Amino acid sequence: MSQADLHLPQQSRFTETSRRDKWWLVPLLTFLGLFGFVVYSTWAAWQGANYEFDAYLSPMYSPLLFEAGTNAAKEWHLAHGSHHALFGPWPSWLGWMPAWMPMSPAFFILIFPGGFRLTCYYYRGAYYKAFWADPLTCSVGEPRKKYLGEQTWPLIAQNIHRYFLYAAILFIGVLTFDAFRGMYYSEDWQGKVVFGEGGAGFGIGIGSLVLIINVFLLGGYTFGCHSLRHLIGGKYNLFSRHPKRKVAYECVSCLNAQHMLWAWCSLFWVGFTDFYIRMCASGVFTDVRLF
Ligand code: FES
Repeated sequence: MSQADLHLPQQSRFTETSRRDKWWLVPLLTFLGLFGFVVYSTWAAWQGANYEFDAYLSPMYSPLLFEAGTNAAKEWHLAHGSHHALFGPWPSWLGWMPAWMPMSPAFFILIFPGGFRLTCYYYRGAYYKAFWADPLTCSVGEPRKKYLGEQTWPLIAQNIHRYFLYAAILFIGVLTFDAFRGMYYSEDWQGKVVFGEGGAGFGIGIGSLVLIINVFLLGGYTFGCHSLRHLIGGKYNLFSRHPKRKVAYECVSCLNAQHMLWAWCSLFWVGFTDFYIRMCASGVFTDVRLF
């Protein structure tokens, strides 16, 4: 039987390709989306203020360990006992922090959601392509010849993802609590009724819905994690002997099938939730109480 060698086209120069489609569009959009979120979240964390508005707390500052910032809401909450800060006002033992660094409670917690996203299987593939161009995409020339892989330093550290998963599940619990608390308004801190006549007590405002949607999207992203899928059913060969595991595995698999969609929607909504609360706290938006 005769044999013939089939020579596939080898791209040798960076971005060299015979593709005719818009292969650069997805990496470009990914780059813009992730870069935009990093810029916004860094800016928001750096503010150290306007992260809470009455019953609402920004997910970028939750759980809130210490109260900080200089806005009117913070003054009011400190005077009345903050209902968000777990350990009260900014402690004096943190006085060692350099003066150029703002008193921002976000610095204490962002490592956990940030680390979870950074090491996520989906995001890894996405930012390797969009930021390092390695690989840029199929059949397009790469900037380097050597494959780094994830079995040696520094990328072997990505295996820490499973540990960030445990923290992420705890954060879902915290944010769920925040969403419920966002439906119980305190008395008005600005000297006027914020959420319609009556002010205090149970009610649903636009901000409450924003917080609930945030938990829903983050839950869809977190509970569709590849590591969680492995944790729940990865070691079983015969699911018929573990019916409860089978159901849980199928639920995670169902979310996992759309992991990229959950990843982007939840990323966008976390940023929007912070933005909405920030705008309300700074007096730009007026939160409407629906009932
Ligand atoms: S793989 Fe994406 S969150 Fe775990």
